Amino acid sequence: SDRFLVAVDGPAGAGKGTVCREAARQFGLAYLDTGALYRAVGLHALQQDQWDPEALAQWAAQMDFTFRDLGAEVGFHAFLDGVDVHEQLRREESGVAASKVASMLPVRAALLDFQRAYGAPGAAILDGRDVGTVVLPDAQVKIFLTASLDARAKRRTLELQEKGESVSFTQIRDQMAQRDERDAKRSHAPMVVAAGATVVDTSELTLPQSVQTVARIIARQR
Ligand code: C5P
Repeated sequence: SDRFLVAVDGPAGAGKGTVCREAARQFGLAYLDTGALYRAVGLHALQQDQWDPEALAQWAAQMDFTFRDLGAEVGFHAFLDGVDVHEQLRREESGVAASKVASMLPVRAALLDFQRAYGAPGAAILDGRDVGTVVLPDAQVKIFLTASLDARAKRRTLELQEKGESVSFTQIRDQMAQRDERDAKRSHAPMVVAAGATVVDTSELTLPQSVQTVARIIARQR
């Protein structure tokens, strides 16, 4: 396709969400956080205590999921059946459940069409783990946004504490390390740097610096 597509992959806590949100506004792109799709399926699995891959894939294929920009102050929120599920999806337990259902091939397959068609026929930016490798292999821009485990865990701990969740740094770091390992080692669409992707390490960057770095990379192609 000749749509302008930007793929941003990398581990949790590297800054993908903020960077993509800002890039979407700056360049007029539709934005989809593909992790929210897996979190939605993970949340459903938790709530129903249902871990059968085929049943979850069937649910995923027909779920009423939307990802909406609620403005600069609030940011993008995920909705299921028109209900804002942002807070539930951001909890670490949803992230852990997401990485479990994300290892199921039928679930991944069920979410592909939605991701590929996102924002069509317009330009779009998608972030996740396999956007540059599997979802949008023809994307004009591919970025792998990463940071050290400690830097990422520190950011996520602060983010959760600001929301009033009582979490410890070591607990978050251990959960993240486990999730990274599960994402990188799974047999279907593991998290790897896509061919042709630019690697951006944000360990020593502020969020505005990360945004600027990515904006420069996109601007070269746009
Ligand atoms: O990015 P986020 O932390 O919200 O993603 C939650 C989980 O969803 C990841 O740990 C990963 O297992 C899964 N995921 C995926 N492929 C994507 C996006 C997320 O497998 N494209």
